[in-house]
Amino acid sequence: MPVVGFGLWKVPRPQCADTVYNALKAGYRLLDGAGDYGNEKEAGEGLARAIKDGIVKREEVFVTSKLWNTYHQKERAKELAKHQLELWGIEYFDLYLIHFPISLEDVAIKDKYPPEWWGLDGKVHPTKVPIRETWEALEEIADAGLAKNIGVSNFQGSLLVDLLRYARIEPSVLQVELHPYLAQKKLVALTKELGIAITAYSSLGPQSYLELGAHHSVPGLLSHNTVTSIAEATGKSPAQVLLRWAVQQGLAVIPKSNNHDRLLSNLQVTEFTLSDEQVTALDALDINLRMNDPQDIHPALGIFA
Ligand SMILES: NC(=O)c1ccc[n+]([C@@H]2O[C@H](COP(=O)([O-])OP(=O)(O)OC[C@H]3O[C@@H](n4cnc5c(N)ncnc54)[C@H](OP(=O)(O)O)[C@@H]3O)[C@@H](O)[C@H]2O)c1
Repeated sequence: MPVVGFGLWKVPRPQCADTVYNALKAGYRLLDGAGDYGNEKEAGEGLARAIKDGIVKREEVFVTSKLWNTYHQKERAKELAKHQLELWGIEYFDLYLIHFPISLEDVAIKDKYPPEWWGLDGKVHPTKVPIRETWEALEEIADAGLAKNIGVSNFQGSLLVDLLRYARIEPSVLQVELHPYLAQKKLVALTKELGIAITAYSSLGPQSYLELGAHHSVPGLLSHNTVTSIAEATGKSPAQVLLRWAVQQGLAVIPKSNNHDRLLSNLQVTEFTLSDEQVTALDALDINLRMNDPQDIHPALGIFA
């Protein structure tokens, strides 16, 4: 799996095909999508155009997607994976993740896609599908060749350990929010022990949540003194410093940008090294601050409680 990939959350539909095409042209070889991002068809169009123009071959691009909460039932999960592959216009995902350890009542694809967090009545409807059932569905998706690897997202230690008690196919990847404000050192240590790779999301911290009004009014990491002084000392941008901090720990990153220059610079994080003192200074910013918490949507969704 490439260490730096391109994140597709909040890449608007009208520009998504061009953004994906340009990201591949710039050298990205991992696309991180999800049913919930609502832009899979357009992302697939960008990928198809890049393949047609000879920029990449399908097998050179690592495509990740995710199973949404309303499709956790065994018979529904495979139906969704097939639907998502059709939208992308590809035959398999390189990685397919359970997006959240949350199951919500069905919303038919024809009624609303993606269904987001709410039923058609505008309310949140948790339902009782155990993770084991959903994991077995992902194993069947892998068996059927629809996904080369399977994994999970937004899982904490106890759920991961439990999943390994019954998994016939072990998860390859855990994708979680991780940045200096939420360093998750114990989770990183656990996954190293378990042999599961981590992909860090929202590496730039509060930046991604400003537009959602969910940034908890903390100072941004991109303008934090510690980050900007390391950026000055290394001649890199604050974003590159934050991405490098993750990559240097052996984590993969999937920054998203709708701006081509930022998209390009986010890829340049594998050719410089932060000193031990710089890493320690960034580590010291940890305040266990999570931006992406479904409990902010509904009290019953407290997966990080
Ligand atoms: N599994 C999950 O539950 C989950 C949750 C969240 C995200 N993700 C995945 O992780 C990806 C990345 O996370 P994210 O989108 O939340 O956050 P992110 O990549 O950390 O940050 C994106 C924000 O930072 C800005 N930005 C990007 N590069 C920058 C740079 N070099 N300098 C300054 N600002 C920059 C972007 O604005 P511009 O676009 O204007 O540049 C955007 O506002 C997502 O796209 C998605 O694929 C997964």
